Amino acid sequence: MLNKKIKSIILAAGKGTRMKSEMPKVLHSIFNKPLLGYVLDSVSSIDCANENIVIVGHAAEKVEEYVNKNYEGTKCIIQSPQLGTGDAVKKALPYIKDFDGYVIVVYGDTPLITGETLSNFVEFHDNNHADLTVMSAVFDNPKNYGRIVRDKNNKFVAIVEEKDANIEQKSIKEINAGIYCMTWSKIIGAFSSLSNNNAQNEYYITDIVKWAVEKNLNVQSYILQNNEEIFGINSKSDLAQATKILNKKSIERLMDNGVQITDPDTTYISPETQIGQDTIILPNVYISGKNTIGNNCKIGPFSHIRDGAIIGNNVRIGNFVEIKKSIIKDNTNVSHLSYIGDSDIGSKVNIGAGTITANYDPISKIKNRTIIKDGANTGSNSVIVAPVTINENASVAAGSIITKDVEAYSLAITRAPLKIFSQWVKRKMEILSGGNK
Ligand code: UD1
Ligand code: CA
Repeated sequence: MLNKKIKSIILAAGKGTRMKSEMPKVLHSIFNKPLLGYVLDSVSSIDCANENIVIVGHAAEKVEEYVNKNYEGTKCIIQSPQLGTGDAVKKALPYIKDFDGYVIVVYGDTPLITGETLSNFVEFHDNNHADLTVMSAVFDNPKNYGRIVRDKNNKFVAIVEEKDANIEQKSIKEINAGIYCMTWSKIIGAFSSLSNNNAQNEYYITDIVKWAVEKNLNVQSYILQNNEEIFGINSKSDLAQATKILNKKSIERLMDNGVQITDPDTTYISPETQIGQDTIILPNVYISGKNTIGNNCKIGPFSHIRDGAIIGNNVRIGNFVEIKKSIIKDNTNVSHLSYIGDSDIGSKVNIGAGTITANYDPISKIKNRTIIKDGANTGSNSVIVAPVTINENASVAAGSIITKDVEAYSLAITRAPLKIFSQWVKRKMEILSGGNK
């Protein structure tokens, strides 16, 4: 356990031009969670982390709104205009100039970095009594990353950006992950020395390495073996690739815990979903957000669980069923073509094919809750208009629209009486064939 104070600065001011989007890059999501959220969760889990600062700029209000809503106590500082990653850190200096501890800088577009790796990284910095540690990794295709430059004694001396690199430097496969740990009192001076005399006319944070080496400070590189973790998102194609990496990890974790996943290639399960053992996930299931699913359930094929589902044991969620923010207790079936949103469903409930919980009032924009208690059942194609309660063992007839609470053990039915016109088709055919003569 470290005995240090740690502040993290997350750079999230850039536009992300290569994303070709109206939306700021760091708000692009994987499994419904913005890239910035992944980074903030990881830095927050570092031992001794006591403050996170996010540098915002492009579409600052949107990024700030996300941070304030989801990460209380995290400070946002504006960088405008955006003059580079070194300039971004400079904006935080007035707030931390007398800070005596470690400052970690991470980019908001590196969502795969784990809290565990960051903790190991800080521990490495601490154990080596380093002044500056840079995380690096080796890539077969290092394109677009800054390269780690070493002298003939293999000593780490500088980072050179791809756009500034000569041919020899471009062939270097060790790259800068963009994660830095600084013994702040030693490194703070570097930021006033930065210049923008480079190919992009930007103030690069990466130039602090050269500064620190020239000052004979203790500069280390921490080579990360699992280079997937430092994958930086610059384009929509990178975003898709990061989703695959995260998904693969999530699926492997679940299978190791005893979940049976029939086809990992067509199954998507968010990292924040917990699933119990012997549950079977059939192909083409998509699960995003935070969910808990119990043991011995059968999910899919083609089910969509969006977020906030708490599903018990022995539950069946079948094809073309969508579940959102709902509790479903043990031994309940939602087998086909249903939408269950903002609902509390008891145990041993049978939800008939095509049942819809109508939870959203588009005029007031309010979402209401549906309660369906133990042992109740809904017939096919019924619409349950929330807020409403269907009590224990009640039965809703097929095709009904339920707008009032239903008592326990009662039948609820809203249906125009069935009329049968005997021989109607035959008469119609006779008229038609008569008319052809
Ligand atoms: C950066 C590094 C590169 C490294 C790579 C790793 C620099 C100069 N280069 O390059 O060495 O290999 O990341 O992924 O640091 N940002 C701001 N303000 C700015 C500019 C950028 O907040 O003025 C933020 C962006 O929002 C982004 C992050 O900093 O989250 C990185 O910027 P980006 O332009 O993606 O840098 P890269 O070219 O990827
Ligand atoms: Ca980047």
